[in-house]
Amino acid sequence: MPGAYHPGMTPTVTSIIDGAPVERAEGGTLTIANPSHLEDTVVEAALGNAGTFLDAARAARAAKPGWAATPAPVRGRGIQQLGRLVESNFEALAALITREIGKPIAESRGEVQEVVDTCNFFLGEGRRLYGQTVPSEMQDKQLFTFRVPMGVAAIVTAGNFPVAVPSWYLVPALLCGNAVVWKPAEYTPATAVAFAQLILHAGLPTGSFNLVLADGPQTFAGIEQALDAGLVDKIGFTGSTEVGRRIGELAGRHLQVPCLELGGKNPLVVMPDADLDLAVEGALFSGFGTAGQRCTSLGTAIVHSSVHEEFVHRFDTATRAAPVGDPTQDVLFGPMISGQFAERFEVWLELVKPHHTLLGSSGTGRITAANPREGFVGDPDAGLFYHPTIVDGVTAQDEIYRTETFGPIVGVASFDDFDEAIALANGHGYGLSSSIYTTNPLHVFRFRERVSAGMVSVNNSTSGAEAHLPFGGNGRSGNGSRQSGIWVLDQFTRWQSMNWDYSGHLQRAQMTSTSG
Ligand code: UN1
Repeated sequence: MPGAYHPGMTPTVTSIIDGAPVERAEGGTLTIANPSHLEDTVVEAALGNAGTFLDAARAARAAKPGWAATPAPVRGRGIQQLGRLVESNFEALAALITREIGKPIAESRGEVQEVVDTCNFFLGEGRRLYGQTVPSEMQDKQLFTFRVPMGVAAIVTAGNFPVAVPSWYLVPALLCGNAVVWKPAEYTPATAVAFAQLILHAGLPTGSFNLVLADGPQTFAGIEQALDAGLVDKIGFTGSTEVGRRIGELAGRHLQVPCLELGGKNPLVVMPDADLDLAVEGALFSGFGTAGQRCTSLGTAIVHSSVHEEFVHRFDTATRAAPVGDPTQDVLFGPMISGQFAERFEVWLELVKPHHTLLGSSGTGRITAANPREGFVGDPDAGLFYHPTIVDGVTAQDEIYRTETFGPIVGVASFDDFDEAIALANGHGYGLSSSIYTTNPLHVFRFRERVSAGMVSVNNSTSGAEAHLPFGGNGRSGNGSRQSGIWVLDQFTRWQSMNWDYSGHLQRAQMTSTSG
């Protein structure tokens, strides 16, 4: 694998078009450091530019007819092969994710498992991809529906889930008969190339899958040019709301609907009848797992005033006791994904105001020998580690209430009646994931009806979506598109209807009705 650790040797990774590496680095080169050991250089990436993206889209366009004509069950065999290849490289891939973005090894393994699960689901879909037979209103006539591949899909993904979230797009897109250009996050090129190599060995035709390493602006320009040239039929994008809006505008000009999976400010409501220890466990996992760098991370715990003090006390105690540090060990969370994420997190920490109370650790900001965290696992100065921070006293007027803060920080707000809890759960305008802790079914179903989020957890945290249930959000979290399971098929196929009249004469719909 390109990212395997060979002291003294830094491998270089590149874009891959039509099965061949692109040695030119028209977009410059990028050096990726292990965020928990900044001295360990993981990889050098040769970046492409808008032209590279265009070349990749051309290769995909050329490969698409052959791949789309391959029977779907045979395409499913390719997906099956990919799943088996991921399984046989399971530990190496998980270790590479941990090395490149600092995700705790248990979470990295979970992420690789999510790819396997996605392949396992879609290999069978190759034998379904059902259309319908539909009764006609006339005799001797039959109606049908068929799923038709979109064409070429441009997939742009974030690096907090460098293989699982890409697989949610790539696997169904390919299974449905599309050709693909994948642009992973520029800060995860080693993991991206390792995953791309597995896809390239799954037996798909050359050119049906292409990888472009490039920065955001060059990618945007490349997509724009590819759309103008009629080379891209569908965009899938996971990332910020701001960029998602621009992609939506661009796609709209070409009469396309992109699949957008954007940010979140996910609420976790704690009712007075909740099991508080369970709620604390959920808040800890979804607030600080992946160092809070999931789009499903907990944003604000919204706690009934009668249990607020007790919840905050238990949450603070659990957070202080949680192991933080070296992601190769058994820790709650490791470092920030990269320097860029650490810098942005420092800016978000400034959203904390004097009326807030800070809890959860022996300090705030970066963990260092001078600003230590009790019980830290490993050497804090070696990497980009941050104190977990609980911000109590958040109100709907605070900027931190409405800002997605991608890092180990969780707000806590208080409510007195259910309407207030709903207003706080929805008022920021995001609508990705949500959670309620209660033992009363009335609260469960009222919450489900009134929360604006696309995903609702009951007595479970805001994170940890399973790979075969619809994943996606509303409002600032997306345009209503859904990934995963059978629901994503509507992103990567178009419905085609057919009617067949075998009566031998012209029967006119609505006019020659025999249905009475
Ligand atoms: C994301 O953060 O982009 O539900 C996806 C979860 C994971 C996926 C998160 N299975 O937390």
